[in-house]
Amino acid sequence: MQKQDVPDVQNLRGRFIVIEGVDGSGISTQVVRLHAWLEERTGRKVLATKEPSEGPAGLVLRQALNKRLQGFSQEVLALLFAADRLDHVNHQIRPALDQGSHVICDRYLWSSLAYQGESAGGEWVEAINAKALKPDLTLFVRVEPEITMARIRNNRFQVDLFEKEAFLKRVLARFEHLVEKAQAEGETVAVIDGSMPIESVATAIQDRVQAFLA
Ligand code: TMP
Repeated sequence: MQKQDVPDVQNLRGRFIVIEGVDGSGISTQVVRLHAWLEERTGRKVLATKEPSEGPAGLVLRQALNKRLQGFSQEVLALLFAADRLDHVNHQIRPALDQGSHVICDRYLWSSLAYQGESAGGEWVEAINAKALKPDLTLFVRVEPEITMARIRNNRFQVDLFEKEAFLKRVLARFEHLVEKAQAEGETVAVIDGSMPIESVATAIQDRVQAFLA
């Protein structure tokens, strides 16, 4: 084989993996685990990132979520999340993928559809996110809000904007609908039982990502 025929693995575009779940479902912990495992497993650089991002719109959103900024309607929040998403894709996600890194993103489009879809309207939220890059794999970590709210109350002093059990139950139902719709449309989606111990959830996620990469 001539040198130029040897595929340069480092130059292949990376994979874009998204992890979603209701508040308190442990996705940030799982992103840390998956990041370490994926780098070791693939030998590639892996960017672990999250939404709201660290970009300018993301910083405004963080202040709205912890109630330092008040008075945004659900529509305004939806627009800010959509703006943050495009900016995040342009400045972090796409450049990393183009350089051959894998990207793991803690929350993405489904969070907008599940959290803002009810009051801002699902179709409109989809429309303002129409230019968002599609993930290659979406992992949905499923935990009942009774469990996640108990975790939040036990582990934190502050409860954020959307952390109310009745609301999160409706968010969970919308996530479940998104899973069904995505599966029907042939997208690559995996549902992980997030009520298991952290290590078991991490192993289940690794198994799904391993199967996806193969
Ligand atoms: P987290 O940083 O603990 O994941 O919290 C982010 C919060 O923002 C969480 O309540 C979900 C919410 N959110 C939306 O409502 N819409 C979105 O598009 C995103 C990315 C997050």
